This record gives sequence, structure tokens and C-alpha cells, in this order.
Amino acid sequence: MTLLFVNATQVVTCAGAPRARVGIEMRDCGVRTDAAVAVERERIVAVGPRAEIERAYEGATRIDCGGGVLTPGLVDSHTHAIFGRARYEEQERRAAGADYMEIARQGGGIHASVRDLRARDASELLALARPRLERLASYGTTTVEMKSGYGLSIEDELKILRVIRELAAESPMRIVPTWLGAHEIPKEARATPATRASYVKMLRTEMLPLVANEQLAVFADVFCEPGVFTIGESRDLLLAARDSGLRLKLHADELAPSGGAELAAELRATSADHLAAISPAGIQALAASGTVATLLPGTMLFLGKGTRPPARALLDAGAAVALATDFNPGTSPTTNLPFILTLAVSELHMSVAESLLAATVNGAAALGLAAETGQLAPGYSADLALFEIEDIRELPYWYADRRCMGTWVRGKACHSSHLPIT
Ligand code: NIG
Ligand code: FE
Repeated sequence: MTLLFVNATQVVTCAGAPRARVGIEMRDCGVRTDAAVAVERERIVAVGPRAEIERAYEGATRIDCGGGVLTPGLVDSHTHAIFGRARYEEQERRAAGADYMEIARQGGGIHASVRDLRARDASELLALARPRLERLASYGTTTVEMKSGYGLSIEDELKILRVIRELAAESPMRIVPTWLGAHEIPKEARATPATRASYVKMLRTEMLPLVANEQLAVFADVFCEPGVFTIGESRDLLLAARDSGLRLKLHADELAPSGGAELAAELRATSADHLAAISPAGIQALAASGTVATLLPGTMLFLGKGTRPPARALLDAGAAVALATDFNPGTSPTTNLPFILTLAVSELHMSVAESLLAATVNGAAALGLAAETGQLAPGYSADLALFEIEDIRELPYWYADRRCMGTWVRGKACHSSHLPIT
């Protein structure tokens, strides 16, 4: 079956090379007027002037975009969507003066989510994750990366990754699984330096091989931060992950600069994420590498921190910049990726084109999918999002609003608010 997307006020293609965009390539997101998109089965086959496309694909099923704006489906390349209960009490504790790391030291933070998740079985976690996935789609996201990391034992980390695999099998959305067994040192391993070292060793020699054997993850990630995993531990873990066939990501320089960005660049990680506290040397290291700098400005906003990731410095240095939600119960409980674009424009001084490319093409590159999704161009997967706006600049403008009218993944309607189909 051929589908024709017609009657969009703008078709924003983000079309270009199948790799992360940098520098002046970020200036143009490919806004076209009077354009249509043709889809055959799972792929985009043509993007061009409406009259031409309609002539070429006579008899195709037409999807009337109702004067909205059609974009590539958004790519949320960093989430921790598999968790149990929300952690709203910590927000008030921070309002009263407590700090994120202080709450963690007192047994809250990631530890609280670990205790909670361990008590739930896989079917419960799956039931909690389904509506979250729908919410992500309802804001225009079609590709989602999901990390484990609230299990911190072999049994519980595998449980999370199997839940992600089940979600991926049942949902039309594109889901990319990441192992994050190194999200925190669990309470039971914190007693002495020896118990801590044995947890890190267990991750390398037992957990990772099991994850790789069952092909439960595409990426491995580590929370590299003072008070969590050191640079040395992070390097050992990522090298072991790479030996197991996994690609690399790193939670780097989120709250304090510790050389995380430099480590990610050294190991040629696919992405280094957070970076709100990246050093000038870290910026240079990322700019000189192929590692995508994934910024998560929602986290700093939600934690009430004054700092923001230095998007301009990274862009101006020539680094590849992506944007994501960091959706998680502790530091960024949002599924709204367009709102992250608002933060990018209003707070990080990024242009609308830079922000959109960061949440499509560069998000896809941060998942190793730059040749598959993130662009409206022939040969790409038919992953699209339609917004109730007339100009792409309205996407970050109507902040925290839900403007998405529909998403399609691999040519299949995923989330929709009843579009006329003729
Ligand atoms: O990306 N930084 C580490 N992990 C998450 C937060 C996890 C939590 O607080 O539950 C993050 O911010
Ligand atoms: Fe994160």
C-alpha cells in the first residue's frame, strides 16, 4: 500500500547526509511548502512538490495533514522509562534546600527507585511502561532509547531489559535498549572498598556477558560522576562492554566536571550525555571526536539548578549536539520532547533548526541510526510526526503544550488524534 501525506503547510525534511550534523549544517532543517511525502510499506519513497507526487502516485491512500507541519518522528535518545513509583517527595525536599546527591546519600534518589523496582515483577513493570510509551508518542516521539539501571543486581537488571524487549516486540515504536547496570553502587555493595570493587567486577565478568549473550542491549552506559563511578571504573566497564559487542554511551559531567566527556571521546563512545558541567577540555575533546554530545536541559531545570549544558560552546566548537528528555522519576519526569526544544531555544541559545536537528538526525546518530530514521528522505524508515502548527518555529514556541496530532513508525500509524484519511 502507498500512503501520501498531503496538505501540510510545511514539510520539514531534516534531509541531508546520513550522519550527525555539525556546525553550519545545523542551520538548515529543510523547510518545504506545498510538498507531499509518499510512503510504500515501511519506507519513504518520495518527498517533493505535491502536484508531482500526486501524479506519480495516483490511487494512493491520502492522509490529509490538515494544514499542520510534518516532521521526521522525534528521536528521544536518552530515557530511563522503566521504573516503579514516582519520586515526587524529593522535589519538595529540594525546594526546602536539600541537594540531589545529599538525598541519594540518605537512601533516596536512585536507591529509592532500586528498592521499589526490585519488589515488582516483570508484568507489573510492563504495565507501568505501556502508558509511558504512549505519552512519549503523543508528543511526537517515534524512536526511544530505554535504559535499565534501577535493578543493580543480575536478576533485576535482566528483568528490566527483558521488559524493554517485550515492549519493543509489542509496540509499533522503535525502541533501543541500553544496559545501565552501572547506574549506582547498590546499598549492599557500599560497605567497604572491597565490596564496591566486587560489584564492579561482577558487572564486568558476570552481568555483561549475560546481557550480551541474550542480546538484551545495543548500548552500555555508566553513570560516571564523583560519588558514583570513577573515571577508572567507567573505563574498565565500558571496555568490557565493548568486548562483549555493545556500543558505548556515558553519563558524563552531569553535576561536576570529572573528565567524563574526555573519556567518552577517548573510547569513541557513540554519545556522551548530560554535560552540564563539562570542562573546556571536554568540549574540545568531543568536538574533535565522532561522539555525539547529548544534552538533557530538562534535568537541570527540574533539579532547580542554575547551570545549563553549554550548547553554544559545543556547537561553536563543532561538536555534534543532540537533545533528549532523560525521562526518569528522579531528575526529569517528562515525556515531552518538544518542551526540551523550548529549553534549547530559550535557555541554551540554540536556533529552531539546530534544536529540531538535535532531536531528529543527531538523536538518531546518538543511537547509531542516522541512516535509518530522523529524516524525511527517500530510503528512510517512514517515521513521521504531524503537529498542529503552521510554522516549525511554533514547535518550541507553544511551550509544554501538546501539539502532536499523529505519529507513524515504519509507515504504521502509532499515535493519532483522528486524522481524516481518504
Ligand atoms: O540521568 N544521572 C543519573 N541518572 C539519572 C537520574 C536517575 C534518578 O535520579 O533516578 C539522570 O539524571
Ligand atoms: Fe540519564
